[in-house]
Amino acid sequence: MNYKNPDENGYYGEFGGAFIPEMLYPNVEELQKNYLDIIASEDFQAEYQDLLKNYVGRATPLYFAKNLSNKYNTQIYLKREDLNHTGAHKINNALGQVLLAKRLGKTRIIAETGAGQHGVATATACALLGLECIVYMGEIDIQRQAPNVARMKMLGAEVVAATSGSKTLKDAVNEALRDWINNPVTTHYVIGSVVGPHPFPDLVARFQSIISKEIKEQLQEKIGRENPDYVIACVGGGSNAAGTFYHFVEEKEVKIIAAEAGGLGVDSGKSAATTFLGTLGVLHGSKSLVMQTEDGQVIEPHSISAGLDYPGIGPFHAHLFKEKRAEFFSINDDEALKCAFDLTKLEGIIPALESSHALAVLDKKKFNENDVVVICLSGRGDKDMETYLKEIRS
Ligand SMILES: Cc1ncc(COP(=O)(O)O)c(C=O)c1O
Repeated sequence: MNYKNPDENGYYGEFGGAFIPEMLYPNVEELQKNYLDIIASEDFQAEYQDLLKNYVGRATPLYFAKNLSNKYNTQIYLKREDLNHTGAHKINNALGQVLLAKRLGKTRIIAETGAGQHGVATATACALLGLECIVYMGEIDIQRQAPNVARMKMLGAEVVAATSGSKTLKDAVNEALRDWINNPVTTHYVIGSVVGPHPFPDLVARFQSIISKEIKEQLQEKIGRENPDYVIACVGGGSNAAGTFYHFVEEKEVKIIAAEAGGLGVDSGKSAATTFLGTLGVLHGSKSLVMQTEDGQVIEPHSISAGLDYPGIGPFHAHLFKEKRAEFFSINDDEALKCAFDLTKLEGIIPALESSHALAVLDKKKFNENDVVVICLSGRGDKDMETYLKEIRS
């Protein structure tokens, strides 16, 4: 079974495809026809790899977290995506897509963002490569991730508020898709996760796959074998998880764990745990698991972390879930918050709230003493300081 590559129509098993309005066909078709050739070209790879190394700061460390390992009595390694330029894994994909857009002759970039990390990464790539940048962001997220809004503006991007629905990530994607339909010739839509119509889930997974490529090389160097016993990552749309799992999904001995946002609890009506609550449906151009009512209305999600506050999940992950290739955990807001404080005190690393959901799996599952457990620390917590401060004061 091939888990990581979709078929030629963009399907992972029964999930994926490209469900788009007619106005978007030319853009999406242009991408489908060209993306593999462009990103495999020598010229693209030379520029991309050089930027990843010298601008982003890759390879990111694979850090053996001794104190955390002692606490949980197992061998925990943290993949430090938080140490990337701009503070999260999102830059791996944003730089790749902006370079791709330039080669397609586009002059205008649009993006959606939840936590603001993808918006900042895209605004950064646009500043560097000289392209206009417009970022759509839910009104609620603009308030709860204010430092990232300031960064995007300083980088020269226009930040446009999405004011419909729950005023969060889903609504920002809707606005970005609307913009793309109105500006099909000049504009490329840099989607920030492994969601959207084919080829976006595959395109984004390929740009993020550097995470697991490096983990393999680093484990070989550190422990003399490429494969850990477990890889763990949080899933919003699923891009850091896709990157963390990518080179391990065909390796049967590696167990894969995904952490979704339980919000106030899966049964509370305020949750974003898609695999627990979702059913087959179409959201933002692909068929996947979606939180929806019986008549197909999207249910507004909730999570303390803006980056996981999404009612869907990428088709790659829906397939891993359906085939039971990955185990999914639902992590509630308070459980993630606790783990953010634990990591900070134990290791001196302040994680993003999203990444703290992956850390919280350590409280849910018992690992053996000799298990090698790799957790993707997808981003740093600077953007979440207001939430953390509220917790400290309460
Ligand atoms: C630090 C961090 N981790 C994780 C995510 C979730 O996105 P994804 O599931 O695409 O990795 C986000 C989204 O903004 C983020 O900022």
